[in-house]
Amino acid sequence: RAKVTVHTIKKLYSDGKPIAMMTAYDYPTAVSCERAGVDMVLVGDSLAMVALGHDDTSQVTLDEMMHHSRAVSRGTRSAFLVSDLPFGTYHADESSAVRSAIRMVKEGRAEAVKLEAGRRAASRIDAIVHGAGIPVVGHIGLTPQTAVALGGFRVQGKSVANAQALVDDAMALQEAGCFALVLEAMPSLVAETITRLLGIPTIGIGAGSRTSGQVLVYSDMMGIFDRFTPKFCRRFAEVGVTMDRALGEYKEAVRARQFPHEGAHTYAMSPAAEESWR
Ligand code: KIV
Ligand code: NA
Repeated sequence: RAKVTVHTIKKLYSDGKPIAMMTAYDYPTAVSCERAGVDMVLVGDSLAMVALGHDDTSQVTLDEMMHHSRAVSRGTRSAFLVSDLPFGTYHADESSAVRSAIRMVKEGRAEAVKLEAGRRAASRIDAIVHGAGIPVVGHIGLTPQTAVALGGFRVQGKSVANAQALVDDAMALQEAGCFALVLEAMPSLVAETITRLLGIPTIGIGAGSRTSGQVLVYSDMMGIFDRFTPKFCRRFAEVGVTMDRALGEYKEAVRARQFPHEGAHTYAMSPAAEESWR
């Protein structure tokens, strides 16, 4: 498959072909996304919860995100690699935002960065896109990094005023130079309106079927993360059950001395050496 670039994504968008994005946190997952032909791979800071066991995403550091991003980059040959800038690494001012984005590209091997921000981050996004020349994906709606300020993990844009604020944010982010926008947990109608108004692709998660593309959290859609599954997630597999069963069988096989099997899983000396050894 040819390398997916920002131009490929623009082409999919202008051809009206839905863009498939998936999160990945490590090399094997990246390879799997690559084999499936996923267009964009996202090293989401959701990894704080689903891979590192934190209660929310606010604890993960830029260095930790870069470590995962590098691992994923070794598995993505053609897929376009986007990595999240975590909480606190692009908030203070334009220069710190640019510095974080540059590190994510240079040390994290990302091709683009994503940040959770509305119109108030416009100047920082502009600095990353036009100052450093790094493509940026925006993210509005339910923004987990600011879930505390939003009053928890809740659907956004349910009231007319709140929906209008999301539209204003989306327009400002496009104006600031974002080449795509993630729309998370909002009514389908609001996401449809934003998608219609914008000239850049929208990637939805819990934002209905009429966005320009979709993204899901890998561990949620595979059935690996069992603390909760959001309403918008379709579980495409129950991998967690399979993994638990395999580990249980392994443990029992060890206890029962059924594993390893002498012969199938073991090494022998040469017959002569064995003879004299015995
Ligand atoms: O961190 C993440 O996985 C994300 C996606 C849900 C869009 O930001
Ligand atoms: Na994220």
